[in-house]
Amino acid sequence: MTRTPNRADWHPASWQSYEAAQQPTYPDKAELERVVGELSRLPPIVTSWEVDGLKEKIAKAQQGDAFVLQGGDCAESFDDCTSDSVVSKLKILLQMNLVLMYGLKKSVVRIGRMAGQYAKPRSADIETREGHSLPSFRGDLVNRSPFTVDDRVPDPKLILRGYERAALTLNFVRSLVDGGFADLHHPEYWDLDWVGHSKTANKYHDIVRSISDSLDFLESISGRPVYQTQRAEFFAAHEGLHLLYEQSQTRYLAHRKHWYDLTTHFPWIGMRTANTDGAHVEYFRGIANPIGIKVGPGMTADWLQDLLRILNPNNEPGRITLIHRFGAKSIEKGLPDLIRAVRETGSPVLWVCDPMHGNTESTADGTKTRRFDNIVAELESAFRVHDSMGSHLGGVHLELTGENVTECTGGARGLTDGDLVRAYKSTVDPRLNYEQAMEVAMTIAGLRQSNGR
Ligand code: PEP
Ligand code: CO
Repeated sequence: MTRTPNRADWHPASWQSYEAAQQPTYPDKAELERVVGELSRLPPIVTSWEVDGLKEKIAKAQQGDAFVLQGGDCAESFDDCTSDSVVSKLKILLQMNLVLMYGLKKSVVRIGRMAGQYAKPRSADIETREGHSLPSFRGDLVNRSPFTVDDRVPDPKLILRGYERAALTLNFVRSLVDGGFADLHHPEYWDLDWVGHSKTANKYHDIVRSISDSLDFLESISGRPVYQTQRAEFFAAHEGLHLLYEQSQTRYLAHRKHWYDLTTHFPWIGMRTANTDGAHVEYFRGIANPIGIKVGPGMTADWLQDLLRILNPNNEPGRITLIHRFGAKSIEKGLPDLIRAVRETGSPVLWVCDPMHGNTESTADGTKTRRFDNIVAELESAFRVHDSMGSHLGGVHLELTGENVTECTGGARGLTDGDLVRAYKSTVDPRLNYEQAMEVAMTIAGLRQSNGR
């Protein structure tokens, strides 16, 4: 790795002297400057004390005392910023949270891929159709998906629209969580018809019954519904990909003596932008947020150690979450080296398994999908590898929706490739639907219970 001499002089725009991968090219520079100026003056989406609170919770999870559930769409879309969509995502996450709490016997930290997950990395800058080339679609924060010249030109105004949608989403989430909505996590409200189709129906029924009994018990001794006794805190996360967006909401908090990225509680660095000499790593090193780093095939021990040295030089607890996404076939081979590499640095990290991004495949007709069995297999391997190395898996990162889509195959209802056309809505990666997501949570709960953990 070559360390650039000006590394010491960090400021929210210092990344601009580094090579910035995956950034759009805006033809209208004056408008871009105006938008960045406006966003820099607008109030932040989250606060520094919430961000610090999350960092403490992640530090607890690093020690094995909490588990992180992170989930949501691959990419949020502006059109999908609706009451139903937000409610159903929150509902599935809160229900999974309860299943995991019960199965793991620890508190669960809830983080949505929500309220800002609007920019996507692409394998090519340009998309060509029938000899015609246009800029690739990079998410609603950047341009529009129809394949026309006007739609594909990166439009600075969309940065502001994204900020607004993120604020609307989080505002609604906060109101729901503060109100009685959290009571929906009571099993009486769950849609559990699918359980009857599962081979492990009895085990799942047992889990649900035990959760119900525990809640009834807690409520009878406290005399109040559980949601009134526990604040259901909920955090937001997105890939910190579009650096001008992140930069514009990066604020210095004098009383805390740190810079914070206040677009979100938990930004993460994607697989394609984790170059140690790149602009993303430069930006992330200066913010005080807890941060995620996606790691997978291709990440070497040296590279990971360099990243930890740059991003967590003081080995601060709660700062680093490593989200590994190898694929069911590669995890056993790839993960142990990374666990050893981290151990050598002394940096505390939270290990989280993303069993989605290493298991994407295409059906015979070219539809992108993921097989439920591969997702579960990677999760099982992740628990096994960490256990066998005296490490521990402290969280899961999923692409899911609370709706009844058909994007991933398998699960209790045995969705096949032929079912995918029925309700395939994602324009990017395929997500677990409500039932499949609940089944993943039940599988984790069942796995850890039978392990006596
Ligand atoms: C994602 O999380 O949607 C993503 C692009 O993942 P990765 O960086 O792991 O490929
Ligand atoms: Co994705």
